[in-house]
Amino acid sequence: MQLQTAEPRQEAEFRTDLESDLALGMLRVVEAAAIAAAHTMGQGDRKLADHVATETMRKVMESVPMQGTIVIGEGERDEAPMLYIGEQVGRKDAARAAYPRVDIAVDPLEGTNLCATGSPGSITVLAASERQGLLHAPDCYLEKIVVGPSCKGVVDLDAPVADNLRNIAESLDRKVEDLVIVVLERARHEKLIADIRKAGARIRLISDGDLTPGIASAMIGTGVHAVMGSGGAPEGVLTAAALRCLNGYMVGRLTGYTDKQRERMPDMGIKDVKQIYTAEDLAPGKNIIFASTGVTESPLFRGVRFFGDGVRTSSLIMAREIGNIRFVDTIHVNRTDEAYIRFA
Ligand code: FBP
Repeated sequence: MQLQTAEPRQEAEFRTDLESDLALGMLRVVEAAAIAAAHTMGQGDRKLADHVATETMRKVMESVPMQGTIVIGEGERDEAPMLYIGEQVGRKDAARAAYPRVDIAVDPLEGTNLCATGSPGSITVLAASERQGLLHAPDCYLEKIVVGPSCKGVVDLDAPVADNLRNIAESLDRKVEDLVIVVLERARHEKLIADIRKAGARIRLISDGDLTPGIASAMIGTGVHAVMGSGGAPEGVLTAAALRCLNGYMVGRLTGYTDKQRERMPDMGIKDVKQIYTAEDLAPGKNIIFASTGVTESPLFRGVRFFGDGVRTSSLIMAREIGNIRFVDTIHVNRTDEAYIRFA
């Protein structure tokens, strides 16, 4: 008798439309993590908030049909037990070989302090792409300017702040005095803040969480016109993934790295540490899914709201290739048989 060799199972196509199992799976991941983190809101324990968001993300990812690899996550394997760089995630059943290969950048809880103090602006967030579609950024800083579609190509990291502001204002057809620039309130930004004030633009200083304003600066009507200054490099890559879906523009350069991080950069594909990146360099993927849920309130999201019979979440899910941008308002019902659903 002749034995038949089994045909190798074909890997599924990376579908990014928002009805795909992958996109809906990512939505479930950020929603569940936000609900878990929201339970810790105001408890003053940022590590606990981060921990529950991370654990929940990891668990829910086990139900998503993908061969996922974390490329930006919670540090290295030794530093963080969960969602570390290189970790394999996704459904691990017999059909795994047939699921699409996906690179994932994740910040289980962006704005841990904000959640711990019950302040606005904390979110759960991830981005997914085909392999090599997201820069493997070390956990250092990214000096950046983030702006909307009409400001493409008009900002330069090495130009005087006043010139950048004038160019942004001209592109938006408004006066410099009418701009709102978001800056993280940090000692390293003293000169930047002074320069923005001198140029006459308005500033919104934030204590944490520069990813949400980065997204807002690419949308008309949010009241944010640019984000300037350095924030986390992983947050920078996630911002870039969002901007790719929103046609936004950014320039960024790695900064604040240790000698050890610098030595490892070539292995991460970073040849020139002084390179100026655009969103296309930081998140070059053809297929990009970006998913985020509000934990506490922000101009983009309502925070997680608990009511007797369930929980209500507000999320953003975007798929670049298809051009879908959805704000998703989900009611998670505890008991389906006799629950009362809140309208608002
Ligand atoms: P966490 O998610 O770790 O709390 O980071 C929040 C954050 O404010 C980011 O939004 C920002 O990019 C980064 O930290 C800035 O880092 P630092 O606090 O070291 O200036």
